[in-house]
Order: sequence, then structure tokens, then C-alpha cells
Amino acid sequence: ILIPCIIAGGSGTRLWPVSRQARPKPFMTLPDGQSLLQKTLLRAAALTGVEQVLVVTGKDLYFSTQDEFRQLPVAARLQFDYLLEPQGRNTAPAIAAAALRVQQLHGDEALLLVLPADHLIDDQPAFAAAVQQACEAAQQDWLVTFGIQPQYAEIGYGYIETGDALDGEAAARHVVRFTEKPDEATAQQYLLDGRHLWNAGMFCFRAAAVLAELAEHAPDVLEAAGQSLAQAPCMQGAGSSHVELAPAAFAQAPDISIDYALMERSQRVVVVPCDPGWNDIGSWTSMRELYPRDADGNQSVGETVLIDVEDCFIDAPERLVGAVGITDLIVVDTPDALLIADARRSQDVKRITETLKQRQ
Ligand code: GDD
Ligand code: MG
Repeated sequence: ILIPCIIAGGSGTRLWPVSRQARPKPFMTLPDGQSLLQKTLLRAAALTGVEQVLVVTGKDLYFSTQDEFRQLPVAARLQFDYLLEPQGRNTAPAIAAAALRVQQLHGDEALLLVLPADHLIDDQPAFAAAVQQACEAAQQDWLVTFGIQPQYAEIGYGYIETGDALDGEAAARHVVRFTEKPDEATAQQYLLDGRHLWNAGMFCFRAAAVLAELAEHAPDVLEAAGQSLAQAPCMQGAGSSHVELAPAAFAQAPDISIDYALMERSQRVVVVPCDPGWNDIGSWTSMRELYPRDADGNQSVGETVLIDVEDCFIDAPERLVGAVGITDLIVVDTPDALLIADARRSQDVKRITETLKQRQ
């Protein structure tokens, strides 16, 4: 049995002001009207044999998450199990709790497919094929990552150095080294050496296998996740159940990502190289590519009057925008905050949130 585990949290600060603490990146809507979170559920539900889905998210996002899913007809045939975090402690505690919960509900043999709730994947058949290959390796107790051919020296991703193919396995390869978020020079080197893939942030493993590896490499994460689950009340409803992780116990978990806590440390990591049209929509630069350009290279959401404007992205659904003589700007309007950025600086948008935090 394969249980998709959708993880939604974090804050997506490079997509300010649309991505905010109260409505983070998974809730962002794309040109076709679907949110990234909805797309993630559809992607999971389209896999063969999927009837149950585990969702790990913050307690404060529980109702909005349910709302998103309810709008999709496919949700009616799925059984949802929610694991609610009192506060975000990053992905390692979230995934540890998910593995414990899956083991509790479905036993040691169940496979988890961890899916970040804020990515875009274009090619469902390629995705399904990669998941199939991942499941085969996961059944042999490997921790499976998904590797994407790098396009440029991104420093916000994990890099996977690929090794030999697994015995008797055409698809999965051994991982020589996993390096989370390298510095610029290292990323450049990885890009050029031809041996590295980007980590797509999705994982597949047997519940018992990931728990054994966590026990060895991140016992404090596992302990806190286990305690918070053991002390948590479980509410059963029609078509869904939810568990509120116990706050005091969960707060003991170190704030660490699965990449640092486990993937960099474990000897049991393998990779399935794949090309499912993956995009992590990391910034406004990748978001804007989803919108068509006019003859001057502009992309507008909402009504605009543009005079001598080139290569600008203007996202202002609620308000008329007039602009004169500007080039290469990103403008994103929301009811209570407005972003104006040089398009070449879209990575630095996160500094706005950082600055706002310091002011509080
Ligand atoms: N439930 C829960 N709780 N989910 C979380 C939490 C948390 O505390 N923190 C993050 N998430 C979710 C996010 O919503 C996202 O879907 C996913 O976990 C990954 O978190 P990010 O914060 O977006 O990680 P990242 O982008 O810096 O890095 C990861 O993804 C890259 C690819 O996009 C790493 O796995 C990298 O190695 C990878 O290359
Ligand atoms: Mg991310």
C-alpha cells in the first residue's frame, strides 16, 4: 500500500506578498484557477491504487486545507488523515510524525510518498513512472529521492551525486553524497561535473525503513515526534480523521529539515532520475513564466494600461494599473501589500519578510 503524504508548511517568503504566513505558498493560485495544494492532491490521487492520503500541516491551516480539497470532486472518494502541527518545526519532525502515523495505521510495510504541497509537475505519466520505480527500490528498504537534471547553479536546492545503478534495478541509482543547499561556487561545480542532480524534495520509503534511519541519525527528532503522537487525541470523522500533535512534546523537536537531518547522513539513500516537468515555483521569476507574454514581453493579471512598458509582470487582479516607461519590473498587488521589484532581484524578495520580522 502506498500512502501519499502531502506536507504543507513553511512560508515561501520569496513570493511575498501573495504568500504570507496565514496563506503560504501551497495556497497560491495558478492561471488555471487551481492552487498548488489542489494540484498536489490531484497528482497523488491519479496514482494507481491511491485511496488514502495523509496530510501534515499546521493546525492553523487545517480548515483552509480542507476547503481547498473539498472543491475537488476527487476528494469525495479519498480517505483523509490529517496530522496537525502546533507549530512548524520544519520537514524532519513532520516526516517523522508522518512515518509513525502511517506505521500505526497501515503497518511496517506501507510505503510513504512524501509530496511537497507547493510544486508544479507537468508530466503526470512521467511522474507516475518515477513513483513506480521509486516504490520498487523503497520496498528494498532504500530511502528514495527523485533527481532532476540541474538547469543552473541554484543554491536553494539539495544536490545528489549519483553513483552506480542498484543491483538488478534499471532505474534507481546509489547516492554517493547528498549536499543540501551548497554555496554558489560548489553549486557551479556540481552543475558542470555532470554527476549531480537536483533533489526534487519528494521522497519514497517504507515506514519501518525511514524510522530505522531516523533512530540512527536523528533520534531527537524521532523521539519528539513519537511523544507528540503518543499524547495526541485522534478525532474520527466521516471520510477523514485528524490528529493534533501534542504541543509540549512537539516543541522538543529540533527545527531541522529532512535533508539535513537524514538525507545528508544516511547511507541508504538512492535516487530515481526523472524529468516530470518539475518546477518548485521558487520565486516570482518562475511564477511569471506560467503567464503568456504580450508582444512587448509583458504579462498582466487584471486590467492594465501600459505605455512604453517592456518585460514587466504586473499581477493586480483587484485594481486598474497604469504604467509608463518601465522595463523589467515585477509588480504584485494585494489588498494590504504591494510589491515592486527589479525582475533580476526576485530572489531577494524574501528580505522584505526578514526585515518585517525584525521590526516586530
Ligand atoms: N507540514 C510541514 N511542516 N510542512 C513543511 C514544514 C513544516 O514545518 N516546513 C516546510 N514544509 C513543506 C513546505 O510546504 C514544502 O512543501 C516542503 O515542505 C519543503 O519545504 P521548503 O521550505 O520549501 O524546502 P526548500 O525548498 O528550502 O528545500 C527542499 O526542497 C527543494 C526542492 O524544492 C529540500 O528538500 C531541497 O533539497 C530541495 O532541492
Ligand atoms: Mg521549497
